[in-house]
Amino acid sequence: MSLKRIGILTGGGDCSGLNAVIRAVTRSAIIKYEAEVIGIEEGFEGLIFDRHRKLTIADTKDILPLGGTILGTTNKGDPFEYREFDKEGSLTTKDYSQQSIENFKRLELDCLFVVGGDGTLQIGYRFFQKGLPMIGIPKTIDNDLVGTDYTFGYQTAVQVACDALDRLQTTGESHHRIMILEVMGREAGWIGLEAGISGGAHVILIPEIPYDLEKVLEKIHLRKEGGSPFSLIVVAEGAKEVGKEAITSEAASTRLQGVVQLGGVGNYIANQLSDRINLEVRCTVLGHTQRGGTPLAFDRVLGTRLGTRAVEAAAEGEFGIMVALKAQEIVLVPLESLAGIVRQVPVNSQLVGTAESIGICLGR
Ligand code: F6P
Repeated sequence: MSLKRIGILTGGGDCSGLNAVIRAVTRSAIIKYEAEVIGIEEGFEGLIFDRHRKLTIADTKDILPLGGTILGTTNKGDPFEYREFDKEGSLTTKDYSQQSIENFKRLELDCLFVVGGDGTLQIGYRFFQKGLPMIGIPKTIDNDLVGTDYTFGYQTAVQVACDALDRLQTTGESHHRIMILEVMGREAGWIGLEAGISGGAHVILIPEIPYDLEKVLEKIHLRKEGGSPFSLIVVAEGAKEVGKEAITSEAASTRLQGVVQLGGVGNYIANQLSDRINLEVRCTVLGHTQRGGTPLAFDRVLGTRLGTRAVEAAAEGEFGIMVALKAQEIVLVPLESLAGIVRQVPVNSQLVGTAESIGICLGR
């Protein structure tokens, strides 16, 4: 089918590599299919409130090394359940899906590319079920989407965490301290595990393996007795102690998003350890530095491959699918098959085994 006009939006939390996708979609749609490209602004909010602009090749010049997304994003813009405060200050939800569909039709798009994580892709699927031609492009630093081997943004986040560990190593070793690095990873510990392995961590705590504090202390004592009081601990924000829930922040601003904000487990463990061991403990929370900044080449290439394949899929009339990396190839996966499933680290996987084989304590 010929492509006349296509749209693209970026939704959910940002990550490095989004601009590589926008650039690839724009360039290939224009160069290969002579299509017009419309950038929907601020994720699905742009579809609800009709905010968009035309993208040209010139608009995507020099954006490959840029972090973030030139289209803007939000993780609170679900058109089916849009959360907003009413005049009295109470939180309400409103269904803007019909308004979004009308805006979509007015734009006369042959296809809308939704670049996002689980939440954004599910919204895309709901619109597809309502008859709109949607194609998903998977992103998340957490690497926790099913159907794809990697999401772009992940490798960059791991590198940021690995660099931080290299820095914490020298200061921690000089002071003979226990250094804790809290990294992102809500329900999946991929960042923590790979950053920890690459950054020489002695302990890695991830959401999939509830940790036993005694095991962590055992590891630290062993190192101390072996002549090294310094220990490097990586903890994913979603990590939890055996029998306990993940540590959450009650920040009011997150109520608009409708998801619980995690964070604080690094300091929680720092306090637990300080009470039990005669060593200084320091915690660094890496936070959103893992999401910002220049993408690694891997994420730029993956984003470019996904973007160009997505445009081809649209020309082939393949909708309701997501483009995905599987065994080095970009394949098409039905959006239906994602169904909100989180791809966690399998607790007895080779990667986990690799960590334990070199003596890393996983808190079990
Ligand atoms: O899903 C990616 C992620 O980075 C999570 O690891 C983290 O919990 C979340 O986004 C934080 O998102 P935000 O602060 O933008 O709400």
